[in-house]
Amino acid sequence: MAGGPLIVGNWKMFCAPSQARELAVGVCAALDERLARTVVLCPPHVSLTAVSEAIKGTGVRLGAQNLHWEDEGAYTGEISAPMLCDAGCDFVIVGHSERRQLFGETNDTVSKKARAALAHGLRPIICVGETEAERDEGHTERVVVGQLLSAVQGLTPDQVAQLVVAYEPVWAIGTGRAATPAQAQEVHARLKGALADLYERGRDVPVLYGGSVKPDNARAVFEQPDIDGALVGGASLDAASFIRIAASWA
Ligand code: PGA
Repeated sequence: MAGGPLIVGNWKMFCAPSQARELAVGVCAALDERLARTVVLCPPHVSLTAVSEAIKGTGVRLGAQNLHWEDEGAYTGEISAPMLCDAGCDFVIVGHSERRQLFGETNDTVSKKARAALAHGLRPIICVGETEAERDEGHTERVVVGQLLSAVQGLTPDQVAQLVVAYEPVWAIGTGRAATPAQAQEVHARLKGALADLYERGRDVPVLYGGSVKPDNARAVFEQPDIDGALVGGASLDAASFIRIAASWA
């Protein structure tokens, strides 16, 4: 994998600005420079500035959890890529399953958002994942590869080089029931294969695993050859847990 591992904290709808600042300071204080460069923190939009200030000069980078595909306009409640750049973001999560399931995000909107992010120099973290029913029916590969191909369709090799993909089985998110390292590896290999079929450097796109990553299972996940880091929800809200996960990368 090019560029080293990525350990991304998705704080979801937790951490108002004052709490976010405190958590970011706690995370940064415990990371040496090498580990800090692997970490991306994704607070809610309203807390981006507080975290941006807290991580300044540490090597830790900032990400948002969502964006709109237009640069500006009459879109009440939405936030655009140029705004995220101005707030100090380098990354943005796109198509998280909570957004797909609860807020009507589709493959089409995911594709538009990824393009908007790339157009402004933000690296989209494109989330894909199957539901439990889809896995039980044997549709995992079709679902996740379909989501991925829809998001990358028409991108140039230079754009693809900026992507991050996160495999997040829906049944593993927030449930405490992570995919086994072997289950995750199998899907990661398929996703990398699909990218490699389309792009010469497709295998270099980092593919992160997400879904109940904890300090005690991170190492086994990270040992898999096609797993390039983690997207961490619940365990990223506690500085000590998140740091232990980041430190699990050998
Ligand atoms: P979890 O969430 O670590 O709490 O399972 C992962 C995610 O939703 O990104």
